[in-house]
Amino acid sequence: MAEKPWDGRFAEKTDKRVEAFTASHAYDRRLYPYDIAGSIAHCKMLAKVGVITGEEVAQLVEGLGTVKRELDHGKFVFDDSLEDIHMHIEARLLQVAGKVAQKLHTARSRNDQIALDVRMYLREETRCTIGLLRALRKALVELAAAHPDVIMPGYTHTQRAQPVLMAHHLMAYYEMFTRDQARMVDCLGRIDVMPLGTAALAGTTYPIDRAYVAELLDFPAVSNNSMDAVSDRDFAMEFLSAASISMVHLSRLSEELVLWSTAEFGFVTLPDAFATGSSIMPQKKNPDIPEIVRGKTGRVVGSLVALLTLMKSLPMAYNRDMQEDKEPLFDAVDTLTACLSINADMIPRIIVNRETMRRAASVGFLNATDMADYLVGRGMPFRKAHACVGKAVAFALDKGKELHELTLDELKGFSSLIQEDLYEHLTLEHMVDRRQSVGGTSTRNVVAAIDAARRVLAGE
Ligand code: ARG
Repeated sequence: MAEKPWDGRFAEKTDKRVEAFTASHAYDRRLYPYDIAGSIAHCKMLAKVGVITGEEVAQLVEGLGTVKRELDHGKFVFDDSLEDIHMHIEARLLQVAGKVAQKLHTARSRNDQIALDVRMYLREETRCTIGLLRALRKALVELAAAHPDVIMPGYTHTQRAQPVLMAHHLMAYYEMFTRDQARMVDCLGRIDVMPLGTAALAGTTYPIDRAYVAELLDFPAVSNNSMDAVSDRDFAMEFLSAASISMVHLSRLSEELVLWSTAEFGFVTLPDAFATGSSIMPQKKNPDIPEIVRGKTGRVVGSLVALLTLMKSLPMAYNRDMQEDKEPLFDAVDTLTACLSINADMIPRIIVNRETMRRAASVGFLNATDMADYLVGRGMPFRKAHACVGKAVAFALDKGKELHELTLDELKGFSSLIQEDLYEHLTLEHMVDRRQSVGGTSTRNVVAAIDAARRVLAGE
């Protein structure tokens, strides 16, 4: 059994079951690159302020490099008795660099060390998430741009409502993911704060230079309050909140892709490379990617709830409970990045069945609002027009026809304001293109939105 760096006051050896129960190396080992980079910056700073010598820092940096290579190449041996990644690295450093390793932990605690590691890890993952959100937005914009004239039913209550451009529908998701990206960028600013130098909770008596460590590790700021720095994880809760919102958006998109690729809708065909088959039914092509994304949303929301519940009512400062922050955080990061990335790859390859969409937009009285607007344009108050068209809809339903399939005489029966030009007024193109209010579905608006999005993406 390895000797523990903290066992000076202990009269008996730790029970094996305690070692297994408290160990976190199985999952926190993924933090090793950040832990080692943090240690290198820390010992350079200790040399700068005269706590260790230049020769010692050289030995430490070389030793840490050796340990890193072992970890990189999977040649590192883990052992429950060493608890976490920090202790493993320090113990191995003692073996490869000798006694000087005992100086590394001067003016430092694992409490500020883990806060640093998690922040460094999460800032890198947040940057990656921002890149993936951008790729997904680009995929949506390009799919929209490739189909500027495809008209589909817009829905409310999952009932056909009014015709919209499919590009407009896709650009709605562009807006959602743009806000998600902004949330991640905002969150990054609060992750990117350097906590090392807090030590256990109260700061340290050594003349440390925290700004220098921040500079070496490329942090724009250092934490203000030592107790806050080791004991809060709001930066992770914030990331998980933003991640959960993104997953909710992805789940909505996924749900639509599942519906749209059914025989009942038939609006899109998923690329074969992004679908799967059935082990029993030879005809099946299943939308497993959007289904799994939909399913994985619960994991990320669950991780957010796990961290919020973990942190609730924790007294200051560090508590070992907080070791439990890592698995939900890592799982959420892995899940979100996988879901964003597979969607960014799949979306450009979706096949759009324009005629099916158009047919669906032509059936189900999606032009009823426009017929009412036509009457308003000829002087009828809207409520009256609504009632009048409602009667026409009931009549048409009875005849098994659409409004635009009624004869002019039949239509005139509902209002003498109706003329031959109503038919043109009720065509899909006219209905879409009249909706020129800011943010509406007219081709002019949507083409401008696509152009604006392309400019924004090019500038990011
Ligand atoms: N592994 C711990 C964590 O993840 C960090 C070390 C702090 N441990 C301690 N006994 N003070 O939170």
